[in-house]
Amino acid sequence: MQQPPLEDRVYAPQPAFSRRAHVPDMSAYQALYEQAHQHPEEFWSGLAERELDWFEKWSQVYRWEPPRAEWFVGGKLNAAYNCLDRHVAAGRGDKPAFIWEGEPGDQRVLSYRELHRLVCRFSHVLRARGFKAGERAIIYMPMVPELPVAMLACARLGIIHSVVFGGFSAEALKARIQDLEANLVITADGGWRRGKEIRLKEAADEALQDCPSVREVVVYRRTGSPIAMQSGRDLWWHELDRDAAEDCPAEPLDAESPLYVLYTSGTTGQPKGILHTTAGYLLQCVMTMKWVFDVRDEDIYWCTADAGWVTGHSYVVYGPLAAGATSLIYEGAPDYPAFDRWWRIVEKYRVNIFYTSPTAIRALLRQGDQWPAGCDLSSLRLLGSVGEPINPAAWEWYYRVIGGERCPIVDTWWQTETGAIMIAPLPGATPLKPGRASFPLPGVQAEVVDFRGRPVETGQDGFLVIQRPWPSMLRTIWRDPRRFEDQYWRRIPGAYFTGDAARRDADGYFTILGRVDDVMNVSGHRLSTMEIESALVKHPAVAEAAVVGRPDEITGQAVCAFVTVKTGQSDYHALAEELRRWVAHEIGSFAKPAEIRFAEALPKTRSGKIMRRLLRELVTSHVVTGDVTTLEDMAVIARLAARRDDE
Ligand code: PRX
Repeated sequence: MQQPPLEDRVYAPQPAFSRRAHVPDMSAYQALYEQAHQHPEEFWSGLAERELDWFEKWSQVYRWEPPRAEWFVGGKLNAAYNCLDRHVAAGRGDKPAFIWEGEPGDQRVLSYRELHRLVCRFSHVLRARGFKAGERAIIYMPMVPELPVAMLACARLGIIHSVVFGGFSAEALKARIQDLEANLVITADGGWRRGKEIRLKEAADEALQDCPSVREVVVYRRTGSPIAMQSGRDLWWHELDRDAAEDCPAEPLDAESPLYVLYTSGTTGQPKGILHTTAGYLLQCVMTMKWVFDVRDEDIYWCTADAGWVTGHSYVVYGPLAAGATSLIYEGAPDYPAFDRWWRIVEKYRVNIFYTSPTAIRALLRQGDQWPAGCDLSSLRLLGSVGEPINPAAWEWYYRVIGGERCPIVDTWWQTETGAIMIAPLPGATPLKPGRASFPLPGVQAEVVDFRGRPVETGQDGFLVIQRPWPSMLRTIWRDPRRFEDQYWRRIPGAYFTGDAARRDADGYFTILGRVDDVMNVSGHRLSTMEIESALVKHPAVAEAAVVGRPDEITGQAVCAFVTVKTGQSDYHALAEELRRWVAHEIGSFAKPAEIRFAEALPKTRSGKIMRRLLRELVTSHVVTGDVTTLEDMAVIARLAARRDDE
């Protein structure tokens, strides 16, 4: 019999999986969903009591004065305590918390007891040096176990941490340190990526030239290469550790005390510091580990994300540890020294649950089946995908070649702002449709609406919104409550606006269609068109710049920049290279434009606004069909379109 096209296939859950799953079938999912919907207070308070350890119980489950939400009001707990102490106290101290592999092949296994010891020692150091609850620490490190140790040590004391991805440049780091008014920076000499050293301390030194709020810099030695240490400011981690004590009890903190700020790109040139607090965030992380990843005590779980992104926060550190799981961390690149590096790690550590991005899947798919075929992947039982829409062809390859047609795939939709997974299949319950994130989780009221907030018809495209507060939602944008309100709560009446478009099919499945604002998604990394434009126009040769996302087979979208230059330029090839380096310097290598087109003018409205929509159409379909009645100069668009042909 002929198979239906990929996107129309449905994969029923396998009975052997469902039998042991946390949520074994659709009726169990529906019952949970209904209970959360009808009785949210009972639902969440029952879970909070069962899944988290508290120093003091809350007096109110939630308080909602739009757009301000508070969860478990008056309760006291500590995130690090919930991730470590309670597991050790329950006799699970010998269980591996982290299994780590460095890119050069070095390995470490840290039991819950050992991790607890390291975190206590480091928080003791921080406390002894006078760092207190409410102060801010920037963490700029490679993916070594000391990165989560630093996060958890901050959490133990109530210091708000902000991890900056190691791929960000000195300029980007500086902007984040300044916005956060950080008191402390925790970094390393460097880290390994594709056999080369990423020199983090050098970048930190450059950033710190203009950061008066920073009192001290703690430096972890990873690569051992020579670095400058500024006396009176810089301290070696290993030297501080010599005098550290292990007695450092977790501070009882308010349920709403800030846990971290994570910067992400918005629709302006300025990144926004998304603030997450403690109890609600942690609870939804734990619940999704169970509902979506179906984690079991014996599982080896591996999320490939860097801790510099929200996925690394929720699903490398807080979720797995709060759930008492074993979380694998790999420092380096998936293709180093060869394209089977990830599959070799799966084989070596007998990984059961594997969570990665569609870009990585597409990039590895392209290298051919021989790489995974040479490894034993039979330990895998569940696969996950996050960060961007997964196209049915990549889904099918992931399912067949990596999962051996045995492993359900959870396509998880969420955002830095949501803190935890919001829409995803439940692996023992939901019949899977490739490319569809499927259904909202219990407690998540998602809808597809028009700009007035009215639900659209089945099969129609609309805006994805969340209609009720949820425990792990962002609480505000750091130092910018107005932007928080405008950005998320004023666009669509009565709901949180996600910035994504979506559609539901006749069975109610959600398909996420991508961003509808000036945010691009390149390799699952969120980039703002405005941020790259601001970087470009800072260059002395650039007059104007407009950046749009162009569809790309591997990375989902690629950065395409239209640039007009000041007079006197002749070597455009050299200038394009120079501008790429410039963007890497201003933001980071991952933001470099894939394509730069030089133009004499950019299409603008009569009021002078650049019409990015037209440029988007141009790079997507190579023709402009949309409404151009407000365009000031039709000839501009004709010239830009013509350019492509003579390239
Ligand atoms: O457009 C959606 C896309 O990634 C955006 C969130 O990016 P960020 O905050 O960096 O968090 C990424 C990791 C959670 C969303 O607005 N996105 C995320 N997951 C999916 C997705 N698009 C489609 N399908 C997904 N599963």
